[in-house]
Amino acid sequence: MPPRELAHLLDALPDGVVLLDAAGAVEQINAEASRIVGLSREAAAGRPVERLLGPKHAVARLAREVLAGGGTSLESECPVPQRFGSALVVEVAAAPLFGVGGRPDGAVLALRDRTLQQQLSHVVSERERLAAFGRIAAGIAHEVKNPLGGIRGAGELLALRAADDKTREAAALIVREADRIGALVDDLMVFARGDALRLAPVNLHRILDDALDLLAHDPIGARSRVERRFDPSLPEVEADADRLMQVFLNLARNALQAMEEGGTLTIATRMTLGQRLTSASGEPVATVLVELHDTGPGIAADVLDRLGTPFFTTRPGGTGLGLALSQHWIARHHGALRVESVPGDGTRVRVALPLRQTAGRGAA
Ligand SMILES: Nc1ncnc2c1ncn2[C@@H]1O[C@H](COP(=O)(O)OP(=O)(O)OP(=O)(O)O)[C@@H](O)[C@H]1O
Ligand SMILES: [Mg+2]
Repeated sequence: MPPRELAHLLDALPDGVVLLDAAGAVEQINAEASRIVGLSREAAAGRPVERLLGPKHAVARLAREVLAGGGTSLESECPVPQRFGSALVVEVAAAPLFGVGGRPDGAVLALRDRTLQQQLSHVVSERERLAAFGRIAAGIAHEVKNPLGGIRGAGELLALRAADDKTREAAALIVREADRIGALVDDLMVFARGDALRLAPVNLHRILDDALDLLAHDPIGARSRVERRFDPSLPEVEADADRLMQVFLNLARNALQAMEEGGTLTIATRMTLGQRLTSASGEPVATVLVELHDTGPGIAADVLDRLGTPFFTTRPGGTGLGLALSQHWIARHHGALRVESVPGDGTRVRVALPLRQTAGRGAA
């Protein structure tokens, strides 16, 4: 087939295709592959495969294995960093090409962008997780609330009839602890109830300012600095102001608590093109991003995996509901909440919210 026709054919494919010659240099690259690797066709042509995404990247590794005589190989979930926005998740397959006489004389790479699928499966598992919390919450409320009322009543009675101080104190402790458990169960019930959001146009900066003002009076933030990097052109979002206030209070409080020895909490807002939310049909929707970055110790990988599970805490005195509730409310807004931690660079919490709440939307 003439090369021009081959190029047309390759461009029509939904997958990225790169043809390499026997030396491992790019002979052909189609439109999708050029989008994924972030290089124009002209810039990519003739480059050794190592100079597409670096010598250590799966693309170069698999290509070299195949060129050295190996068979077809595949690697799923390879991150491909992008100049703008977050990395793509790509499936890379490499296969040998054979010339006249069946001698190997090159390789073909197929690159399949799996980013959207991965994000969608993440959303589904997040939804399932939240639904499971709801079922657990309803079960606990049922099993715990009624006997708790009895325990509290008995404690009050004991306190009234106590003959000595020690018994009175013990009875008061029963009442206090029963109240504490009752409050926890009430918090947990949020997952079970489908409380409606009270939607209105919301100025996110005002909410963030209010949350930070409240925390300014709290000794937890006494040693830390707060930096606001607000995008003044940020439009109002359609949201429930009280719930968002609760979310940002939780997140900012976590950040300040992580920086007991002092540090900087930077809160940035912007409209985003990079980390996008998508509609149920997969279309990107206008999204605002609030990012809280703290210079605390960061979060270990094994802890990171368990974040957002109700009652998971590493803080003495913590209830472990802050993040779970925040995630719940952001999900109810069809948004996304992600926690990232890079060793030595503290913790970054990204909250993405759709500008408008359109019915039937799913977030990615
Ligand atoms: N900014 C942060 N830096 C480091 N660790 C964090 C940060 N935010 C959260 N964590 C970790 O996540 C855990 C869970 O946070 P979460 O807010 O859900 O509960 P908590 O802060 O422990 O208790 P509370 O219910 O009072 O908020 C914390 O115990 C802490 O280990
Ligand atoms: Mg917390």
